[in-house]
Amino acid sequence: MKYIFGNWKMNNTSVEVKDFIKSFKPPKEDAVFGIAVPFPYIKEMQKKLGKKAQIGAQNVSFAESGAYTGEISAKMLADCGASFCLVGHSERRQIFGETNEWCREKVKALQSRNIMPVLCIGETLQENEQKKTKSVLKSQLKIGLSKADFSKKIIIAYEPVWAIGTGKTPTKKEVDQTISYIKEYINKEFKQNLKVLYGGSVKASNAKELLSGDIVDGALIGGASLKVNEFLEIAKSAKEKI
Ligand code: 13P
Repeated sequence: MKYIFGNWKMNNTSVEVKDFIKSFKPPKEDAVFGIAVPFPYIKEMQKKLGKKAQIGAQNVSFAESGAYTGEISAKMLADCGASFCLVGHSERRQIFGETNEWCREKVKALQSRNIMPVLCIGETLQENEQKKTKSVLKSQLKIGLSKADFSKKIIIAYEPVWAIGTGKTPTKKEVDQTISYIKEYINKEFKQNLKVLYGGSVKASNAKELLSGDIVDGALIGGASLKVNEFLEIAKSAKEKI
């Protein structure tokens, strides 16, 4: 079964949250669902949809508590019922200057509260064109996972930055090749087999092809996760063989 995870980013208010809750009726066998929502909606989403989907956050502080104005700790996320949390999304890396070292500490902080980290990695267009994809992914993984506790769950999301919100995607062959590389690297460096999701312009119309086969374990979906029907459609088509 594929992991179909949504990332709402900074979208939706309580009206849309209520509508989403009302219409989210996935057949159990379609996918393992997860939705990373803005902080204020975690508790309500968890209460109302917690049996149908894992509800998670999009960011966490590396610190445990204290004078960090505006930050939210892993302990607080656990308190609100978050079961997973994105770490190092490219928007956090690019807009907020999040580094691999911060990601490493965030992974550790989340695992100490039994919240599953979803470590996001991916190369920019320039890095891709300069054929630096593998070396970028390698350092994001090497540092980001260096304090991970592999006895607890952790998954990776490969999101090429140039494919996020652009409607462009790598070819299926490229997605499979890059995710195979990520899995091989994690296996070599950490002796682990982790699930790896693909993210970047996944829609109902391309999910079946992008997620087909055994290499890609699921998707991390931005824009298309805001519409319940499209989100559920992605899960359904990811289940079908091509
Ligand atoms: P889009 O699906 O909107 O391209 O966003 C992908 C993403 O950033 C998910 O984390």
